[in-house]
Amino acid sequence: MSKPIATVAVCGAGGTMGAGIAIVAARAGFRTICHDVAIEGLDRTLKQTEGFLTKSVERGKMTGADKDAAMSRLSRTTALDDLGVADLVIEAVFEELSVKRALFKKLNAICPDSTIFASNTSTLSITEIAGGSGRDDRVIGLHFCLPAQMMKLIEVSPGIKTSAATLEAAWLWCEKAGQLPVKTQDKPGFILNALLVPFNNDCIRAVEAGVASPEDIDKAIKTGLGYKMGPLELVDLVGLDTQVRLCEAFYPITLDPRAAAPPLLRRMVAAGLLGRKTGRGFFTYNSGKMFGA
Ligand SMILES: NC(=O)c1ccc[n+]([C@@H]2O[C@H](COP(=O)([O-])OP(=O)(O)OC[C@H]3O[C@@H](n4cnc5c(N)ncnc54)[C@H](O)[C@@H]3O)[C@@H](O)[C@H]2O)c1
Repeated sequence: MSKPIATVAVCGAGGTMGAGIAIVAARAGFRTICHDVAIEGLDRTLKQTEGFLTKSVERGKMTGADKDAAMSRLSRTTALDDLGVADLVIEAVFEELSVKRALFKKLNAICPDSTIFASNTSTLSITEIAGGSGRDDRVIGLHFCLPAQMMKLIEVSPGIKTSAATLEAAWLWCEKAGQLPVKTQDKPGFILNALLVPFNNDCIRAVEAGVASPEDIDKAIKTGLGYKMGPLELVDLVGLDTQVRLCEAFYPITLDPRAAAPPLLRRMVAAGLLGRKTGRGFFTYNSGKMFGA
């Protein structure tokens, strides 16, 4: 059995996913250290978190005292050495193998042997990320869904060398954090993205072919299929640049033409229409607030 997890560090907490993951951990009672290379991102995360939790109180999902306690459990740092007290490190940094591998290698020298390293990668191999970390048996995939602060699912994927004890400890942590874990193989896209990326591309191609407007495509899918969010609204939330990266990870492996990035998607990225983060994608947005706040 690994050491019980009390302190969680989130690397890349200034970004979209890291900010949401930090909320999940702090809200569930874990001391949560938000780490990023950029202090501005961390300041934005703490401000947005305050806004999100205030909205949760207004909606009756938590008490004011719970919100204050969650905020008091959060700290922020740009110094990697501060992560030496973490029992679990969850990285949500850029989707680049070299960046993730370098981070885990540095952390291996800082954290005690008992610390588990988790990656929130969407497309990279957990086994490859773990390689060179110096603790392949204590590295695991914990793939949260966007927006992490609202979605319960976590795809848990062990790499080839991940130990049974690491899987058990990570699984238990997901449950304690109030999330719903499912186990998947270490394959690009795990369960959700492997199914979703081709489907979202189909919807983008339908816009390009003039089948219907983005509004009507989303309305049809929400109303006809009972989805809570339309696929084009979802691509805007995920980021159109991220959708391109997902396509680039899947297409060479699957050779499924539906997984190739549609020309319209590439044109929109070239024009800087990345979705919510730039204020415009398939739809237009005016608020800088976190999703759900
Ligand atoms: N966006 C999504 O829908 C989504 C969903 C699930 C998983 N993911 C995965 O989550 C990860 C992050 O994605 P995102 O969309 O939040 O990216 P993002 O660009 O919004 O955020 C990444 C953050 O990482 C920071 N960073 C970069 N290098 C770092 C380092 N060495 N140490 C610490 N911080 C560093 C950046 O400053 C930035 O704040 C990726 O692996 C991605 O595949 C994304």
